[in-house]
Amino acid sequence: MQEKEAIKKIEQLRKEIRHHDYLYYVLNNPEISDTKYDKLLRKLKELEEKFPKLVTPDSPTQRVGGTPLDEFGTVRHSKPMLSLDSAIKEEEILRFDERIKRELETGEVVYVAEPKLDGLSVELIYENGYFVRGSTRGDGVIGEDVTENIKTIRTVPLILRSSEKNIPKMVAVRGEVIMHIKDFENFNKMLVENGYQPLANPRNAAAGSLRRLNPKETAERPLDIYFYEIMDSQGLSIETQLEGLDYLSKWGLRTNGFIETCNDSQGIINYHHKMEEKRETLDYEIDGVVIKVNKIDFQEKLGQKSRSPRWAIAFKFPSRKEETQILGITVQVGRTGTLTPVALLKPVDVGGVTVSRASLHNQDFVNIMDVRIGDFVKVGRAGDVIPEVTEVIKSKRNGKEKKFYIPKNCPVCGSNVVKDGAYYKCAGGLSCIAQLKRSIAHFASKGAMDIEHLGRKSVELLVDEGLLKRVSDIYRLNKEDLLSLPRFAEKSAENLIESVEKSKDKNLARFIYALGIPNVGEHVARVLADKFGSLDKLKEAKIEDLVQIFEIGPEIAESVNSFSREPNNLEEIEHMKSLGVNAISEVSSKKPDTLMGKTFLFTGSLTQFSRDEAKRIVEELGGRAVSLVSKNVDYVVVGDNPGSKYEKARKLNLECIDENKFKQILGK
Ligand code: IVH
Repeated sequence: MQEKEAIKKIEQLRKEIRHHDYLYYVLNNPEISDTKYDKLLRKLKELEEKFPKLVTPDSPTQRVGGTPLDEFGTVRHSKPMLSLDSAIKEEEILRFDERIKRELETGEVVYVAEPKLDGLSVELIYENGYFVRGSTRGDGVIGEDVTENIKTIRTVPLILRSSEKNIPKMVAVRGEVIMHIKDFENFNKMLVENGYQPLANPRNAAAGSLRRLNPKETAERPLDIYFYEIMDSQGLSIETQLEGLDYLSKWGLRTNGFIETCNDSQGIINYHHKMEEKRETLDYEIDGVVIKVNKIDFQEKLGQKSRSPRWAIAFKFPSRKEETQILGITVQVGRTGTLTPVALLKPVDVGGVTVSRASLHNQDFVNIMDVRIGDFVKVGRAGDVIPEVTEVIKSKRNGKEKKFYIPKNCPVCGSNVVKDGAYYKCAGGLSCIAQLKRSIAHFASKGAMDIEHLGRKSVELLVDEGLLKRVSDIYRLNKEDLLSLPRFAEKSAENLIESVEKSKDKNLARFIYALGIPNVGEHVARVLADKFGSLDKLKEAKIEDLVQIFEIGPEIAESVNSFSREPNNLEEIEHMKSLGVNAISEVSSKKPDTLMGKTFLFTGSLTQFSRDEAKRIVEELGGRAVSLVSKNVDYVVVGDNPGSKYEKARKLNLECIDENKFKQILGK
């Protein structure tokens, strides 16, 4: 065959293959059998082998053309890839709809409702219809160049279909790379059979697969993609999101089949319910729905915040409860000796996070739920974060389950365990290594003596190696001892010693908090420091003196007093004093109590203070800063973009003030 003839034939084959790719991968409606398709592809390969000059990067044979990389290059996105604000409650959707209509000054807004695909967001660039670059979201501005890997996804056309809509000079589109649930399960099976750890969920599998440095490996992973957004284009003007979606599918970029429109919050809520039911039948994961204002000029009017558009919201599904089994119950010893039973679970993916432990709180909880070792249970995540056992599936019991009782002796130090209200406590105090480690970590924590480089892990090591036998030993650490440990090098040892030195100058309030007296949090510690002015005075305080103080009730008074009567504690304080901790000898210069008895709440962002700073100032002047709206709040300080607290505060008729008024009250 002559080259001229080959050119024609090759072009014809490619066209045919692309057409069948589109029917198969995008429309899910093939016209020819796999054997016939393979034949076409083989023919094309043969011709390209004969005429290697005629191979082009967009040829269907070139999906796995890339060579392995050492690392991914970076790509600046055509426009920042924003993320979405999210809502979980229907109320939040009511407010979203209200805000949009208020800001647009119209009662008529069309929303486009789409499934929220749970995968990995990518940007694809097509120039004159040719796929030229694909990147991951990265930090939203710069992502990783995964062009070669994206080419291996069969649903991604290497050339846009041009028959029906004009192809712009450049178009940047956004979509979600996913792995189908079935494919994920098979893939995990294969991993386990080959001795590898299984992956937690399809999203992690998709992300890991797309980020292989060798595109051949990505090609072996069954990835798929849905497109949902035209991010940028040259030579194209779109008026609505629906029109954008229409362009995408006409170009052969597959969009999701469950997209609908709604006009108000009720419509959105109905769609959410419908998709939540549908979710169970889908062969890919969705974790909510995405609601977008349809008209682009409305979108532009509404604008965006730094990381998310103000015209869209993700309305998430409540996190799923998953079934798993309790393999054992272990007992954790807290800073003040409280024993907490913790369920050791057969690892299970709950809403994208692998959960293998869940607190069972105390013996009463265990008894009331009747949780036993070996039980099958449902596990959820409280507030979408903390794992919790929500249900025991008693019908699955086989009689071999074992009841659990808090041990009579501390599992760490063997001391007696005593009952204290609903809790059981180890009586070992700081002779119990578990309590010692937690006390030291608390002493060094940010709100306390703020000793950088002395986090939980280092404390663990230093206690295990015998360098810290009591809290005051922190001030006996020296560089040579640290250097003898495997985790410390010259620089890290110096850093730790330096931050220990720095902590000697922290103020009295921090020191009192650092002592870890039960019931004495940061705020109470500040009140005590202000009231007594020195540690010596505080040590002498009688319960009667303490309860006189506003905000100090009998429980706190009792805790403080019994702490001061304990000789071990006094000895520790003396050690620290002689080792140079200044707070102990300091007589604090008390600031005036101008805000005594006043409670503040902050909402929205302040421009002249950080939230923490503002709270600290209020507390230094004797006031309180809280985060829950209630009748007890005296002032609500409202910054930019206030949250729902502002509305609640207004409903309660609380006094709302702006930042300037707040400064006046502080006397600044
Ligand atoms: S729109 C400016 N639509 O959800 C528009 N995102 O935080 C931004 N996602 O990172 C995205 N399905 O990866 C949009 N139909 C959909 C989506 C979707 C899934 C992902 C996306 C984004 C995350 C939201």
